[in-house]
Amino acid sequence: MKVVGTFAEVRAEQRGAAVGLVPTMGALHAGHRSLLDAARSSVAHVVASVFVNPLQFNEASDLERYPRPFEADLEVCREAGVDVVFHPSVEEMFPRPMRTTVSVAEVVDRMEGPSRPGHFDGVATVVAKLLAGVQPDRAFFGRKDAQQVAVIRTMTADLNFPVEIVPCPTVRDRDGLALSSRNVFLSDDERRRALGLSRGLLAAADAVGGGELDASRLEIIARAEMSDVDHLEYVELAAQADAARLIAIDRPAFLAVAGRVGRTRLIDNVAFDVMDGVVVPDRGIRRDVES
Ligand code: PAJ
Repeated sequence: MKVVGTFAEVRAEQRGAAVGLVPTMGALHAGHRSLLDAARSSVAHVVASVFVNPLQFNEASDLERYPRPFEADLEVCREAGVDVVFHPSVEEMFPRPMRTTVSVAEVVDRMEGPSRPGHFDGVATVVAKLLAGVQPDRAFFGRKDAQQVAVIRTMTADLNFPVEIVPCPTVRDRDGLALSSRNVFLSDDERRRALGLSRGLLAAADAVGGGELDASRLEIIARAEMSDVDHLEYVELAAQADAARLIAIDRPAFLAVAGRVGRTRLIDNVAFDVMDGVVVPDRGIRRDVES
């Protein structure tokens, strides 16, 4: 495994093989690992990028306290069989003042967009740079961030990026909590209360399995489990393609939630795919080993 810091070095390693890119901000956990595994089983050459992107943080304090356990991240990448870890400095990524921003309209109008002004511009801009600089055939993203997947798919389609975007299931802990680098900030009591988020979403997924497709009824079912969350920002059904609000599951959709427990803001969702006209919930996968 090579660890490199420049786009030129990343491209020099590729030698014509099919390339998969897994963009991350580090602090790698089993959720990221599942993306690396998906890439490893799909392409000949796997690139993982580790870059804490300053453009996508709303608060300087959040950027500062973002965990950066780089040596442990390298170990995760090594175990996953990554070929190249791209770990650019802020100067490599932004050698001069940025005058260009990639901004995706409408897909960012609801849910995470209003809560985090500028966040998705920051994500889209840095992902555009990573895709242009690394030139992968496929790029792998977690469904945990369903609206992010919609933003990136819209951007790559609108701008003709020659890349296949591959969404991967959410990895959950044994108790159901979606893995997130923010979970380390939760006390035991906060974690117990945070479990309402996944419990509510999975209850809604069960209802969908029983034939319930109506958005407001699914939102009520989900909210019923979330009373211990300090501040529930939204529980909303949206279309996978463009994150538009839906009143019923009549196309591929996701039921998304954001809430704060103590000082920690958490998001989660369950996706609903449509296969041969049948709505199939993707509850994610439970991890079975400590990591
Ligand atoms: P980061 O939060 O590090 O996440 C990197 C990738 O891991 C994203 O695609 C995210 O959806 C995925 N991921 C996180 N938790 C997951 C889980 N529990 N199960 C499955 N996948 C999970 O998302 C970002 O970084 C940044 O916005 C980035 C795309 C790297 C741009 O800076």
